[in-house]
Amino acid sequence: MKLHFLLFLAVTVSVPAVRAEQPILFPHSTHINKVHLKCIDCHISADTRDAATIPGIRKCMLCHAKVATDKPEIKKLAAIAASGREIPWQRVYGFEKAAAVKFRHGPHARHKVPCATCHGDMPNAITAQPLVKHNMGTCITCHRQNNASDDCATCHY
Ligand code: HEC
Ligand code: HEC
Ligand code: HEC
Ligand code: HEC
Ligand code: HEC
Repeated sequence: MKLHFLLFLAVTVSVPAVRAEQPILFPHSTHINKVHLKCIDCHISADTRDAATIPGIRKCMLCHAKVATDKPEIKKLAAIAASGREIPWQRVYGFEKAAAVKFRHGPHARHKVPCATCHGDMPNAITAQPLVKHNMGTCITCHRQNNASDDCATCHY
């Protein structure tokens, strides 16, 4: 019990994440509110597997080979696609490797935890930003409130 408390104090003092600069100004809002895509149309395993995944450029080009080709951001996208590379997105969420955290999307989706609880208002966001802070304290608080496990091995390798 005492050990838990000390660890909780130690990790809730986390450094605020820096705003991510992305290579393409990808508007989440347009694709969700105007194109009516669902989160899992792009983050295809967010409801079933450990990683949500970020879509590859081929997915973008399914539409953007024809859609909005005159726009500067789409010209950048087409140039990257033509070079055969992937878009070098900067990751927003994640933990230091040294913390050996095991996060799994699937079990949270099965328990109907909304994406917004952990990622904020993405339907009105442009590129993703760290709108919600995650640390050991926030994970454990919710686990205890929902009778989910707070064993070290649940969240650590
Ligand atoms: C309980 C909190 C929680 C919920 C609910 C959640 N996520 Fe996440 N998500 C995280 C954390 C924590 C990470 C970072 C995990 C890591 O790097 O190990 C993450 C990472 C991601 C990533 C980065 C890529 C990847 O492969 O992981 C995407 C995209 C993502 N989440 C989308 C979603 C979507 C879409 C939903 C809803 C279907 C969702 N998340 C629900 C906490 C959550
Ligand atoms: C299902 C079709 C579809 C897919 C898939 C898609 N988009 Fe789009 N995208 C659109 C539509 C439609 C618009 C709105 C175009 C407009 O306003 O004229 C748009 C708008 C955009 C814009 C804004 C262009 C501007 O400046 O107005 C960017 C940037 C963009 N998409 C990038 C991407 C990227 C990157 C991907 C892949 C991760 C992607 N899109 C996947 C259909 C799609
Ligand atoms: C058209 C495809 C598309 C749709 C639909 C989409 N996303 Fe994304 N998402 C992306 C791309 C591309 C990135 C990488 C660029 C960025 O970080 O903004 C991304 C990044 C993210 C990230 C940051 C992951 C990380 O750690 O770097 C989160 C969280 C996320 N999306 C959540 C959502 C949620 C929640 C929804 C639904 C409300 C959603 N996305 C819908 C394409 C999409
Ligand atoms: C909003 C509440 C909430 C938050 C925040 C949350 N979780 Fe969970 N988590 C749950 C629930 C509910 C379950 C499902 C428990 C079950 O299956 O019995 C779960 C399950 C898990 C599982 C799967 C356990 C298993 O049995 O395989 C892992 C791993 C996990 N969470 C890690 C994390 C980590 C790491 C964080 C912080 C980054 C986090 N969770 C944040 C509610 C949450
Ligand atoms: C519900 C999920 C969860 C549980 C249960 C959990 N942790 Fe953590 N722990 C995390 C997350 C997430 C981080 C990363 C925090 C960050 O980066 O701010 C972390 C970080 C840590 C760190 C800091 C590592 C570093 O190098 O920065 C230690 C040490 C640690 N946990 C030990 C434990 C111990 C011991 C237990 C069991 C008493 C435990 N954790 C239980 C989620 C959890």
